[in-house]
Amino acid sequence: MKKFLSATLLAATLLLPTTSYAARELPSISLSKLTVMDALNARKTDRNFVDGDLTESQLTKILWAANGVNRPDGKRVNPAALGVYSVEVYAVTREGIFRYDPQSNGIIPVAEGDYRMTTTTGQNFVGKAAVNLVYVENPDAWKDSRHTPPPREAQLSSANVTVGAMVQSVALAAQTEGLGNCVRGSINRDAFKKAARLSDEKNILLAQSVGFIK
Ligand SMILES: Cc1cc2nc3c(=O)[nH]c(=O)nc-3n(C[C@H](O)[C@H](O)[C@H](O)COP(=O)(O)O)c2cc1C
Repeated sequence: MKKFLSATLLAATLLLPTTSYAARELPSISLSKLTVMDALNARKTDRNFVDGDLTESQLTKILWAANGVNRPDGKRVNPAALGVYSVEVYAVTREGIFRYDPQSNGIIPVAEGDYRMTTTTGQNFVGKAAVNLVYVENPDAWKDSRHTPPPREAQLSSANVTVGAMVQSVALAAQTEGLGNCVRGSINRDAFKKAARLSDEKNILLAQSVGFIK
């Protein structure tokens, strides 16, 4: 509880919770020399996760790859139709559920506790992965934009294309950190919706486990 509260306070100051992610040794491979081509060559699905929390730096890199801002005008690592960023990313760790805030490159606590298994329909490795990202479509992003909202079908289609880019960016970032990843469509949507207190309009599109592997 103390840790979660400190995460809340730090998130309020737009920082990642320094107390939440214990530093641990990085795998002993030469990560600095990994090129994008190397990472693509090594890309694969991993399911043999072992316990361990990501460092703050690792979690930040993974979330930034998923939905971070990479230019002064606020545009992001991954493309979105008309620049309307309708996909939100939730990070589900041993400690809680957090919503990633692209503007601050920080996380906002949503729920305390281990909800990792709510992001699966029963694949046990999910409970071992350090973080499970959940990609959620927020149709309100269109209302908040200066664009006329396209039909729902087109909104969802665009969001799914963006999620495809997001999961691949995360896969490459995970490779460079020596971490494994698994994209997952099998999600207990009702359980996660409840745990993350998502409003009814929001749609859970995909999940992705990231963590240490055997
Ligand atoms: C949209 C999508 C949904 C997927 N859903 C799951 C899933 O629910 N559980 C799982 O273990 N793997 C899932 N996968 C991973 C695939 O099984 C995996 O990518 C495929 O077997 C090819 O293996 P590779 O990624 O190692 O090349 C999913 C992949 C995609 C793209």
